Amino acid sequence: MNAMTEMLGCQHPIILGAMGVICNPELVAAVSEAGGYGLLATAFVQDVDVLRGQIQETKKLTGNPFGANIFAMNSLVPELIDILAEEGVNAVTVSGGSPKEIIPMLHEKKMKAIVVVPTADVARKAEALGADAIVAEGSESGGMQGFKGASTLVLVPAVADLVKIPVIAAGGIGDSRGYKAAFALGAQGVQIGTRFIATKECIAHNNYKDTIVESQETGTGLVDLGRFRIRALQTKLVEGLIQGTEDTDKAFSGQAVEESWLKGDIAAGVLPAGEVSGLISSVPTVRELIDELVNG
Ligand SMILES: Cc1cc2nc3c(=O)[nH]c(=O)nc-3n(C[C@H](O)[C@H](O)[C@H](O)COP(=O)(O)O)c2cc1C
Repeated sequence: MNAMTEMLGCQHPIILGAMGVICNPELVAAVSEAGGYGLLATAFVQDVDVLRGQIQETKKLTGNPFGANIFAMNSLVPELIDILAEEGVNAVTVSGGSPKEIIPMLHEKKMKAIVVVPTADVARKAEALGADAIVAEGSESGGMQGFKGASTLVLVPAVADLVKIPVIAAGGIGDSRGYKAAFALGAQGVQIGTRFIATKECIAHNNYKDTIVESQETGTGLVDLGRFRIRALQTKLVEGLIQGTEDTDKAFSGQAVEESWLKGDIAAGVLPAGEVSGLISSVPTVRELIDELVNG
């Protein structure tokens, strides 16, 4: 037991990274059942009953604790927090903007606030605002990031040196070597995204999983969306977006996500994934993966 497992009520300090519609209840429950901490994603939830339904579905599959991510840009943040509290969720990660107003809302409802940060300076500010823990997310991570950041190997010790609250390392962790390295860097836990996409329980289409499995460590690129960037698999579409020959609005629409992430048309939308894709060569069950992470 360490500070993270004690805070979250799980066996292993392994958090499933929030990943939009592919954080399906089966995946979330499988992570919690295997001793990790499953996390539901709410960034794109526009109907609070959808979240309630997902929580209830997850609860049918596991009696172990799981959490959720609150994305600061979502206009429904207060309503989503109410539902998470009503359903007894014990911890929430906060990303996508300032946690200033969100941390007190979570604390009022007796939930832990874990703030996702890209720099040590932002970690220090989050601690001053009352965060209970920090996810230090390195720039090799899959998904959204800003223009200021550092890789996990540099960011995690920099954050651990600056804050007193527990630090969770995210970005580039895909096997037991990365898992153990995170603790050597000063983290008390890990948050993993990309590696969990390539598991049997993840609802992502096999074409998404196969593209990760086939990818090299140089197989991702950063698509510039103005206020932020997205690290994604370097498909033809992503190459076109980087060169400016493809339409970003179309590539990031809800329909594009559905067609590419869930239905497997990888030319239709951007497939976010981290550099760790280059280390992934199999699609195990979540339990097999967590066993390898912890005991491999
Ligand atoms: C497909 C995808 C979607 C993501 N969506 C979110 C999100 O909605 N909110 C969030 O905080 N992080 C999001 N992330 C980041 C992950 O939660 C996690 O921090 C990151 O994947 C860790 O790096 P890794 O991919 O190297 O494991 C996303 C990542 C991916 C790959």
